[in-house]
Amino acid sequence: MDDLAFDPRQSAAELIRWYVEMGVDAVVDEAPRDRLAEARRPVVQERVTPSPGARPVAAPGDATEEARQLARSAPDLDALRGLLERFEGCALRGTAKSLVFADGNPAGRVMFVGEAPGAEEDRIGKPFVGRSGQLLDRMLAAIGLDRDQVYIANIIPWRPPGNRTPTPQEAAVCQPFIERQIELADPDILVCLGGPSAQALLATKDGILKSRGRWTTYATGTREIRALATLHPAYLLRQPLQKRLAWRDFKTIRAALDATPRPPGPSA
Ligand code: URA
Repeated sequence: MDDLAFDPRQSAAELIRWYVEMGVDAVVDEAPRDRLAEARRPVVQERVTPSPGARPVAAPGDATEEARQLARSAPDLDALRGLLERFEGCALRGTAKSLVFADGNPAGRVMFVGEAPGAEEDRIGKPFVGRSGQLLDRMLAAIGLDRDQVYIANIIPWRPPGNRTPTPQEAAVCQPFIERQIELADPDILVCLGGPSAQALLATKDGILKSRGRWTTYATGTREIRALATLHPAYLLRQPLQKRLAWRDFKTIRAALDATPRPPGPSA
């Protein structure tokens, strides 16, 4: 009879396991909560002290202008991360567990930029560590690269709740930070992973199936970086047949690296 005894702890654990398998990764309150309204609310910000020499910060509420001025004031990537950690102008910061700033080698010749962290990235605090990250690692390995040789970031550094699409306001507030991150990392090649990243950074409105695989340039203001868009690993997990297109793009990246090898030195 013991086998049939009801064990509430075991039942609860089984229920949670079932939720996770069904893709439930966020707990909601009993009363509905309009997170979009939270995102739209004017942001009253704690002032973040910019780096020495920076221009004065913007008027309260103008989070995008403040983001621009702060990002411009960062002299290096560590300073940029520090400013982002203290920046309160993006509502996503309030719902995410971690700032997901970057992974890999900032001196790497290739910088990959995805869209936004998912649950696993939010938990660990690094981009592309979940299932799509594992696929990205395999794609890198296929062209002889690994995470110690490339730099990886996202256009949005905080996980949107339930992986929803970031609002235009959230995207606009985050944009100056990723632009400064690219400028400071100064890669030889910028690779946008997926449509949202390509549209945010490569001045295209085209869908990713049209914009992928074509060389273009990304202008930092001081320099032009060769840039290419390719399919997002999460899309490839859903559409494995499209891996052949991504494989073409990765071979294009490999060929560009081989055509302009860097002299041997300490960086990747
Ligand atoms: N998808 C992204 O675009 N970025 C991540 O960091 C993880 C998944």
